[in-house]
Amino acid sequence: MTHSWTDWLAEQAAEREDAGLTRRLRARSADDATIDLAGNDYLGLSRDPDVRRAAADAALTWGGGAGASRLVTGTLEVHAELERELADYLDQESALVFSSGYAANLAIVTALADRTAHVISDAHIHASLVDAARLSKARVTVVPHSDIDAVREALASSAGARTLVLAESVYSVLGDAAPLVELAEACAETGALLVVDEAHGIGVHGPGLVATYGLAGHPNVVVTATLSKSLGSQGGAVLGPRILREHLVNRARPFIFDTALAPAPTAAALAALRVLRARPELSGMVHDRVCTLADALGVVPPDGAVLSIPMPSPQAAVAAQAAVLAEGIRVGCFRPPSVPDGISRLRATASAGINAADWERAVDVLVTVVKDHQ
Ligand SMILES: Cc1ncc(COP(=O)(O)O)c(C=O)c1O
Repeated sequence: MTHSWTDWLAEQAAEREDAGLTRRLRARSADDATIDLAGNDYLGLSRDPDVRRAAADAALTWGGGAGASRLVTGTLEVHAELERELADYLDQESALVFSSGYAANLAIVTALADRTAHVISDAHIHASLVDAARLSKARVTVVPHSDIDAVREALASSAGARTLVLAESVYSVLGDAAPLVELAEACAETGALLVVDEAHGIGVHGPGLVATYGLAGHPNVVVTATLSKSLGSQGGAVLGPRILREHLVNRARPFIFDTALAPAPTAAALAALRVLRARPELSGMVHDRVCTLADALGVVPPDGAVLSIPMPSPQAAVAAQAAVLAEGIRVGCFRPPSVPDGISRLRATASAGINAADWERAVDVLVTVVKDHQ
């Protein structure tokens, strides 16, 4: 006899529970006083007064939603303004805004690669790029993490196929930076295109590592971004030459068949971008904090804002997360399948948005709890 759907779901739930891999949603209240080292609001800009006011004003001016996809009537002046200023800050010719970073990644890969193409993907790449590569139906080669020789070997096997190389500027799990200059060189030599996801680079490294390394405008490099981390809002973007933007407007299904990003998050991201440009010291503060935390825990400081702390098992990671929460501090917890190497980790964000006293307390608590759970 075949199983019912509910029997199958119950078996799946039991397997997850046994493996210590059950995930649960917790709703935050508006007056939640826990210290947040779990989120991605690296600069604390989601709660910046200018950002909140811009979001509220945009909702009052334009309404709750954009009302349509961008190609119908959903493109608003605030989208155009955000795209202009984002492109200017990242030193790119143009930007195109999407309703999420996930959609931006799906869009660029599927609009540029089809079953005749070759996608070379770093083993630590974000799930949105993994899904994008699968959706494109291209031949996919997964290369070991940041292994430039393996990328060169894979490029050599492309045999004339249109080829994309996918990397993150700063990887989300380990917080390490990609060898972008070498990757760009390898792509230029073979005519491939390097797609760099700057989700964790923008804000933490000013305009991101592509701009910082002088690769903005490189003919073999394009950038994707999210507005949901350092910019404290929601949405995503692709940045590169105008001809690429035009191609995406005409061909990218996650752009064409999706309602435009709502006015409030668009305006919030624009306001956050202006704060970031006016206060470049915020990036330095994140860097100082992440180094302090790494030092206190005796681990190597990452290139990004997030410190990954390896734990002996998924259960130990969950127990440590709960112990930290009991002290009023929220940290993240990465377990399989969200880790590229099977090692469970606590994930702590060195956000510039936490006040100094809370930050110091959080560091002390983390050091004690991590020691107790090793
Ligand atoms: C590297 C990376 N790319 C893309 C995304 C997706 O961005 P968004 O949350 O805006 O959809 C994330 C967010 O989790 C990410 O970490």
